[in-house]
This record gives sequence, C-alpha cells and structure tokens, in this order.
Amino acid sequence: MTSLLPRTALATFAALGLMAGSAFAQDYPTQPITFIVPFSAGGPTDTVARLVAQAMSDELGQQILVQNVGGAGGTLGAGQAATAAPDGYTLLLHHIGMSTAPALYADLPFDPIEDFEPIGLITEVPMTLVARADFEPETLEELVTYIQENGENVIYGNAGIGAASQLCGLLLQDALGVRMTEVPYQGTGPAMTDLLGGQIDMMCDQTTNTTTQIQAGEIKAYAVTSPERLDNLPDIPTTSEGGLNLEVGIWHGLYAPAGTDAAIIERLTEALQVALVDETVITRFAELGTAPVTEGQATPEGLAETLSSQIELWGEVIAAAGVTAQ
Ligand code: MLT
Repeated sequence: MTSLLPRTALATFAALGLMAGSAFAQDYPTQPITFIVPFSAGGPTDTVARLVAQAMSDELGQQILVQNVGGAGGTLGAGQAATAAPDGYTLLLHHIGMSTAPALYADLPFDPIEDFEPIGLITEVPMTLVARADFEPETLEELVTYIQENGENVIYGNAGIGAASQLCGLLLQDALGVRMTEVPYQGTGPAMTDLLGGQIDMMCDQTTNTTTQIQAGEIKAYAVTSPERLDNLPDIPTTSEGGLNLEVGIWHGLYAPAGTDAAIIERLTEALQVALVDETVITRFAELGTAPVTEGQATPEGLAETLSSQIELWGEVIAAAGVTAQ
C-alpha cells in the first residue's frame, strides 16, 4: 500500500517509535513480572523458578510472581506464554520439554524457536529413579528385574507427555524393553504426594523434587542419571554403575515472547546472571543436587544453541523409540 505521508514524516515517526521503545525499555521494569511455570506448584520446575524469581526480583527491584499453568506435559503453559504481550512482564521458565514437545505433539500451540526470545540457560538438573518406601526391589539390579517381570503392573507417575519425568520413563522402558502403566499428573509435585502415599509405585524425577524425601527415607532411590554420583546423594549409585544406559540431565531456560524489545531482553539476561551467582541460589541448588550454569551459558545465545541442538537430538531419540507425535 502506498503511504500518503512524505518520507521525512515517516522517518520521524519511525525514529520516535524506536525512541519510545528504547525509553520504555530504559525504565523497565516498572511493574511486577510474571514467570509462567508450565507445571504444578511444588514440583522441580516450580522449585527452580521460585529460587531464580526471588534473586532476579531483588536485582530488578520489582516483584516476580510465579504462575503455575500445568497440563499436557508443559505445553499448555508454554502456549500461554507464547501469546503473552511481548512487554517483558510475562516470561516462561521451562526445561528440556521445550525441545521434546515438537517430536511428541503434532498440533503444538507454539513454536519453541519462532515464538520466543531466549534470555538464558539456568541450570541442568540430574534425575533419580525413585519408588515408594515399601517397594519390593532393594537395588537397581532388582528394580530392573522387577519391572521386566511385572511390566504393566508397575504404576509409573509422570507429568504428562513431553515432561522430563515422562521422557525418562520412556528411556527406561525402552532400555528394559517393557511397558509400565503410566499415570500423568499436572506436575511431579502432586505425583510425589501419591508416591509418598503409596498410590503409585515409582517415577523418574529431578533431584530438585526428590532429594528431601530421599534423605528423609520417605522414598526409595535406586540411581541418579548423572555421569557421576552426586555430592548431596553420595550413597545413590549412578545408572551406569548399575549397568543401565540411562543418562539424562534436565536443562532449564528463561524465555520472553517473540518481539520483546532487545533492551529488555538484555536487562533480563543481566538480572538472570546476577541471580545465578547469588549465594542463596548457589547454596540451595547444591543442596538439591544441581548448580547454576556459567555466565556464558546464561545468555540468549547459550539458550538458543542448546534449544536448537536439543530439538534435533530428542527428535531423533523419540523417533528411534518408535514414538510418534500425537
Ligand atoms: C517434569 O518434566 O516432569 C516436570 O519437571 C515436573 C514438574 O516440574 O512438576
């Protein structure tokens, strides 16, 4: 369409628009920020989010509210964040599920790359194979045999298709060549409640959600999915020590909706990097078996590179497991 305005006026308007945007970004944030967490309160993603939110809030001088939007393995919450206003006041804190969802959902309500601006990586959390306290197997070897002999009679809790807990379960069943009965929750917070109550037999969940219960002897832990044993759970062997080829780490990132002003992204990246060297964050992460990523990884480039390489990797792994998008 041909513009009716002379070029100089258009150039002026464009410059004013840019200036307004930059001025808006210069004052940012001027109101509370919301972190959408695509799983229930009380789970591992929520735990990471609340620790990071508090430290970033201190740095930004604005309240950061955590909004739990569970369902469909985290895709409902991510979809809601994708369509939020790109004003820097609604962000998404999500994990590896951003990279597995494209291979698991035919009709995904968002594009993990096109619909978001990456702010930075946060942490990579190991997982633990855990069971209710009175579950019969005592060792990882006995657990493997038990699952292979009891298959669908083993009740496995997860946070829905695309969740880390479901992904780990997929890899476990694939490694053992057997199918268990999976029970999906809105997050592994509520799944842990049922594990503690004995309503489900086991799950594979992140140390940010299982450490406390393992240390209290309230659930059984058979293995950690990290290459080496964890300082906070030194008595728990690695999966490889038990002869199980199942190593997986759950990386977490912070995102803004696509179109968010670059100056706002820069301010958020700065605040994230400050949060990740905060003593409280470092100490609590360590108690829960994890650690913040380096400053170089807590960048838009660090997250973008991880996301794109992981989408490719998990697409291949999921296809090789014979799982098709639904
Ligand atoms: C998962 O992917 O299993 C989630 O991390 C569970 C949660 O955070 O509640």
